Amino acid sequence: MNILVTGCAGFIGFHFCNNLLKKFKSIKIIGIDNFNNYYSINLKKDRAILLKKRFKNRIKIKKIDISYKKNLEHIFKNNKINTIFNFAAQAGVRYSLKYPSKYIKSNVVGFHNIIDLAVKYNVKKLIYASSSSVYGGIKKKKLKENLNINDPIQLYAATKISNEMIANAYNKLHKLKVVGLRFFTVYGPWGRPDMAPMIFTKSILKNKAIEIFNNGKNYRDFTFIDDIIDGVIKVFENNKRKKSNNSIYNIGFGQSINVTKFINELENQLNKKAIKKFVPAQAGDMTRTASDISKLRKDFNYKPKTNFKIGISKFLSWYKNYYNY
Ligand SMILES: NC(=O)c1ccc[n+]([C@@H]2O[C@H](COP(=O)([O-])OP(=O)(O)OC[C@H]3O[C@@H](n4cnc5c(N)ncnc54)[C@H](O)[C@@H]3O)[C@@H](O)[C@H]2O)c1
Repeated sequence: MNILVTGCAGFIGFHFCNNLLKKFKSIKIIGIDNFNNYYSINLKKDRAILLKKRFKNRIKIKKIDISYKKNLEHIFKNNKINTIFNFAAQAGVRYSLKYPSKYIKSNVVGFHNIIDLAVKYNVKKLIYASSSSVYGGIKKKKLKENLNINDPIQLYAATKISNEMIANAYNKLHKLKVVGLRFFTVYGPWGRPDMAPMIFTKSILKNKAIEIFNNGKNYRDFTFIDDIIDGVIKVFENNKRKKSNNSIYNIGFGQSINVTKFINELENQLNKKAIKKFVPAQAGDMTRTASDISKLRKDFNYKPKTNFKIGISKFLSWYKNYYNY
């Protein structure tokens, strides 16, 4: 079975390929990524090299930008693709304030190219990354899939909502099976250098001040990468049983943690104090995210296992090894 994974050199795409190929020996992956310089290209290359080394001819990795339809179409012409996992996107909330057009290009044009070619080449199913950002300013203790999300507070969120809307339309028009996965603050080994766990760790180790937004009153549902991947693979394995051909799931840990508490745990485990600088909220930032994961639990028996203390220890052991600390 041929699976197309976009964003395969990214944090989540890399872990997904690694786990899928480990678990299912009959699967082959065509991975694509444009290896852009939003963060370290070397980190992306190292992930891709590791995948090639581990799985050899079971994974092909191509440097392709999903926003260029012509190049992308070659992949569909030359390979019979069964299922697509679309992880490629311009991620990050703060960057979207500065470079909005990059989000339209990768997340809207690119996403549309993927879904359009999926229909043209009779792909069975598209599973795509959405985000907890779609919930915007909703003030609920737990964020549930059926909440009204038509009030995005920044462009990144708007592009992810648009993916869900486009997927809905293509499902209605063409009967393409689609599943959108709303990930909640993912962290762990091989993580993203632009995200808080990596920024905090680097700053603590280098004695640099950490800016803590919203004066320390932000909360996040930090979700360890293995739990995210477990959720994605459960959806892939068992979706056949489900009647719905168009669904959305939260994938999170299900618990909101104060960002300062997360930093305190990093300090404990690094045995080093952080220099904390409390600053006002950033434009576009959510105050609190907490996933309601009951839908994923009910449909696929999803049970995240990694609490933040264990997650941090696994993340730090990778970090120290990779960056030679
Ligand atoms: N990490 C999180 O906490 C989180 C939370 C919610 C949603 N998501 C979503 O999950 C997906 C994966 O996120 P991630 O954390 O692995 O990010 P990432 O930036 O590490 O991975 C995305 C990958 O896609 C590639 N890419 C970007 N634009 C592309 C394009 N036009 N064509 C081809 N490749 C392109 C990048 O080079 C990168 O390797 C994204 O869609 C992101 O929006 C992530």
